[in-house]
Amino acid sequence: MPDTRVATSTRSHADVRQVGINPNHWYVVARSAEVTNQPLGVMLWQHPIVLYRDRAGTIQALADRCPHRYVKLSRGQVVGDAIECAYHGWQVDAQGHCAAIPYLEAQQKLPNCRVRRYPVQEQDGFIWLFPGEPARSSQVALLGVPEWDHLNYIASVTTIDCQAHFSFLIENLMDMYHGHLHQNYQAWADPKLQELHEDGDRIDAYYQAQSYYRIDKIWSVSQLFFPALRRLHPEPLTVSYTYPHWTSTLGEDFKIYCLFCPVGPTHTRAYLLHFTSLHAFPNLHKLPIAFRRFVKNSLFGSAKGLLDGLVRQDVEMLEDEQQAYLTQPEPPRELNRALVSVQRLIRTQAEQVYY
Ligand code: FES
Ligand SMILES: [Fe+2]
Repeated sequence: MPDTRVATSTRSHADVRQVGINPNHWYVVARSAEVTNQPLGVMLWQHPIVLYRDRAGTIQALADRCPHRYVKLSRGQVVGDAIECAYHGWQVDAQGHCAAIPYLEAQQKLPNCRVRRYPVQEQDGFIWLFPGEPARSSQVALLGVPEWDHLNYIASVTTIDCQAHFSFLIENLMDMYHGHLHQNYQAWADPKLQELHEDGDRIDAYYQAQSYYRIDKIWSVSQLFFPALRRLHPEPLTVSYTYPHWTSTLGEDFKIYCLFCPVGPTHTRAYLLHFTSLHAFPNLHKLPIAFRRFVKNSLFGSAKGLLDGLVRQDVEMLEDEQQAYLTQPEPPRELNRALVSVQRLIRTQAEQVYY
């Protein structure tokens, strides 16, 4: 990605708070439902990108920069399969070529312009975009979220938007010792890091912890609203950094994802997904698909209040950390060895960027 706007530090001793992303991965830039035939402007590591659906409903992703005078294409509108700039009405087709200019005179030719086009895929309720070398996109698998459409899982989703480098967020997610912050939400308790595996693009940290929630009764979901129904019990808690995203399992009942969209060096967006498994109810799985879908859809978002509360508390800490770093950078006194591995992976990934 030969683009000098991306200030990426690639030395292995580089300050992790200033390290760039490895663009040769699939990042999540929007939820499917957010992209319509109205253009949507997003930002991925300082690159403005416009997303829209063409007439067939297929997602298109172009640099959000009109080839005429470089205003944002996302201020315009979709016309057929092209996008029309708001300023003078130039149209750019899905390939990034200039397709029409309303005031082009008979003897004038369309300028030969090329707006950057990004590989993009819609899968599992999200829009995945590959900001690196397009030729590499077919060799890199995207993470995917198989539980999103699976009828055995109840989904909740919220957005994280924090003014902090992405390393602060992933360290927060890999460090289960910060349950202290969330005591009023009773998310988990007594974590102990048991094992740590590093393997290429991923880190798996295995904790033993106590969980407050157990999904074994049809009314178990009411534990979300009535703390008196919760019972602490031991569960394995696994957190994984599958660069650039995060996944977690708590016992057999919960699966959580954090899908990253690093906006820039001090701004990170992400989608936090929570899945409650219905595996404990085999009889439910014998019911007609339409009914199971109805149950799944009716319970969609039931953990959103919990997620929003956790995110509010976390974002405060992450933004404090970023500010503290900017005003007086000092290495933290870290005791959790999982975070040493996380920082190593972030640096190694950044080193794989060739300019
Ligand atoms: S700036 Fe886009 S058409 Fe003129
Ligand atoms: Fe947290």
